[in-house]
Amino acid sequence: MDSIGPIPLHVGLIMDGNGRWAEQRGKPRLYGHRRGAENVRRIVTHAQSLGIRFLTLYAFSLENNQRPAAEVNGLLSLFELYARRWLSQLLEQGIRIHLIGDVEALRPSTARALRKLEDETQKGEQMTVILAANYGGRDEVLRAMRRFWQSGATKGPSRWEDFEKFLDTAGIPDPDLILRSSGEMRLSHFLPLQSVYSELYFPSVLWPDFSERDLDEAVAVYRRRRRRFGRLGGREMSE
Ligand code: IPE
Ligand code: IPE
Ligand code: MG
Repeated sequence: MDSIGPIPLHVGLIMDGNGRWAEQRGKPRLYGHRRGAENVRRIVTHAQSLGIRFLTLYAFSLENNQRPAAEVNGLLSLFELYARRWLSQLLEQGIRIHLIGDVEALRPSTARALRKLEDETQKGEQMTVILAANYGGRDEVLRAMRRFWQSGATKGPSRWEDFEKFLDTAGIPDPDLILRSSGEMRLSHFLPLQSVYSELYFPSVLWPDFSERDLDEAVAVYRRRRRRFGRLGGREMSE
């Protein structure tokens, strides 16, 4: 029998399918977003109980700004509401929030609410939840380039490690597993530089229905994968 590998240290989660979930029920898309937002806490709690130390949640892409204003504003209002409701639980669970993306370009009330969540949870040591809000990977590269030159560098970086520390994800290990609900098989601008050796998994369940069992299944699938990182040999090479 094939051996089973370790659980993933970092999982990336593309929470997709809220709109379709609502449409299937004859409801407005925002109803799906609300149910999707309600699902976040239980999945984060379950990820923590599995021992996942880093969980990145794709909450809002840069391109999502191009949706109708009513949907964008509705989503941002949900972020503000759930950021407030989530705080005490995060503190209790020892979870630190880290934001990636162009958060300051969101409307001020949303940027404030998200930064507050980040600031107030800084002491959490049990788990890091990375919220990708107004995030796009190419945009992150441009930000990293600006930071690199602002750091006083006089020549370009020659090693990846010298550049990586200017990314929004500085200090966070690359995702071992990226999963996207709703069956779409694409990354949609999510962590393009960090996902180079991530295992990908695309369950068809829509995000509001994504359950603890679906996360268990994703982790089980991941543990049976053989990662090689361009080398030869078995799983032992990745540990
Ligand atoms: C994911 O659900 C949430 C965000 C993109 C903010 P969608 O809104 O993309 O749902 P579908 O893909 O239309 O079903
Ligand atoms: C990706 O989903 C963004 C989030 C889940 C936040 P989208 O629904 O925006 O992606 P596309 O448009 O189907 O590629
Ligand atoms: Mg979608």
